[in-house]
Amino acid sequence: MRITVLIENTPAEGLYHEHGLSLWLEHRDRGYLIDTGASGHFFDNARTLGVPVETAKAVIISHGHNDHVGGLERFLQEVDSTAPVLIRTAAFDDFRCVKSDGTEEDIGFDVELINRYSDRFCVLGDGHASLGNDVYLIGDHTQGGPYGSLDKTLKVLRPEGLVPDPFKHEQTVVVEGDDGALTLISPCSHSGIVNIVEDVRRLIPSRTVRNIIGGFHLMGPAGINSTNCPPGYCSEVINGLADLGVEQIWTGHCTGLPALRAMSACDALEVHPLQTGMSIDL
Ligand SMILES: [Fe+2]
Ligand SMILES: [Fe+2]
Repeated sequence: MRITVLIENTPAEGLYHEHGLSLWLEHRDRGYLIDTGASGHFFDNARTLGVPVETAKAVIISHGHNDHVGGLERFLQEVDSTAPVLIRTAAFDDFRCVKSDGTEEDIGFDVELINRYSDRFCVLGDGHASLGNDVYLIGDHTQGGPYGSLDKTLKVLRPEGLVPDPFKHEQTVVVEGDDGALTLISPCSHSGIVNIVEDVRRLIPSRTVRNIIGGFHLMGPAGINSTNCPPGYCSEVINGLADLGVEQIWTGHCTGLPALRAMSACDALEVHPLQTGMSIDL
């Protein structure tokens, strides 16, 4: 299995970078595009890196925030592909970020895409899905508890007003490797990465999540050099993951640099930074 980071927050020579994430998963001769970043530049990077995104068996959208789905329109317009776009019903909600000064930002995407490309979308409701090839999509993640979302700015606009986002739009990719161990790809982990791993453990009790790739949404509202978590929280997360059998993580994007540094300082498991253009072989 190989995961290539098509775009992420970190700069890399000769490649675009942005606040967003797009990953290419290759597993047993099949490719899957997981998220499309914010702008569509993932596609420029894919061409530079020689990643054949046009051969994708599916485009998986982890959730409905624009830093993950903003490049989808370009994929649908420009890439010679008939790959289905696997997305949750709730991803079409009206997502807002409400900052502490009261300003509101639309962080959803152009939901009209589903009308313009109706034959391309495969909209999933509740539950989980097998894509074959030992690749699974897990939804309906547990919310709350000690490892639930720490971000109070993320809302959904409903007829009655803004309500906290219940993250029903989030889905996680689980891949079983040849050795039976699981790799979890969780681009933003809004439900909380420990909650997500516990969900997978409940659903697939005979297998252990050994590797995690993704963002953990521990970045604060002031950007990549800020954090939204209290002191000591990062080591609690790392220890929680290690207790569940996780051995290695690659994290970046919405994790933020302070949380990445705090996690890297823990020795319960191996922590690696995610970087634009890198490939991970597992
Ligand atoms: Fe997000
Ligand atoms: Fe994100």
